[in-house]
Amino acid sequence: MAGEVPRALVAGNWKMNGGLAMLKEPRLLAGMLRDVKLRADVMICPPAVILRRVKSVVKGSKIKIGGQDCHWEPSGAHTGDISAEMLKEAGCSAVIVGHSERRTQHHEGDEVVRRKAQACHRAGISSIICIGETLEERKAGQTLDVVKRQLKGSLPDLATAANTVIAYEPVWAIGTGLTPSTAEVAEVHAHIRAELGRILAAESGQMRILYGGSVKPSNAAELMSQPHVNGALVGGASLKAADFLGIIKVYA
Ligand code: PGA
Repeated sequence: MAGEVPRALVAGNWKMNGGLAMLKEPRLLAGMLRDVKLRADVMICPPAVILRRVKSVVKGSKIKIGGQDCHWEPSGAHTGDISAEMLKEAGCSAVIVGHSERRTQHHEGDEVVRRKAQACHRAGISSIICIGETLEERKAGQTLDVVKRQLKGSLPDLATAANTVIAYEPVWAIGTGLTPSTAEVAEVHAHIRAELGRILAAESGQMRILYGGSVKPSNAAELMSQPHVNGALVGGASLKAADFLGIIKVYA
């Protein structure tokens, strides 16, 4: 196993976008991918209320479905929340946890993120754990420390390469059109890989590390070619089938 590059994952995070009118996009994408041989898994994470609809639209295609967040409990008095078990039942094979928008807008810290990731594993699905520094932290030269702290704090004890994906998303690159240089991406991904080695030993080389933050068709090939970049977590550019395809095709 050692030295083998993990199979890539390109996941689209629709965030709070996409009602029923958007179902045509995954339908189109499924058609576009039908005869394409890919070296990557493809996933769409739509809003929870249309998960089942998206699932049925992409049935029989290469596209998997994921959730955008979950509660850490399996059920109970948590108004407005959804459990990992419910997301699994709706057809999800993974859930994004610890996205910077959750960390900032919902004040979620590493411990909450860790419990959510653990809940995914309890439910039998994967967690996609997001980490990344703010612009202030990058300017202060704290990027590697921040990423290390978030990784250690957010990764559940029983994380394996099969049940966990890490997404490095510099907060300042999300939805801004800005991206770190390829050297900066390579530096952080190598650092995450080394930290995973310290935390997980045997499993560490196979755990996927995605890059996220303003990935688009024009920069995907360069970003994805960096060592230890095993795919992408895509926001804005995942909303249109043609754009998302342009990124996925890096792995065709
Ligand atoms: P973006 O979002 O691609 O629109 O920058 C990425 C993300 O938030 O995962």
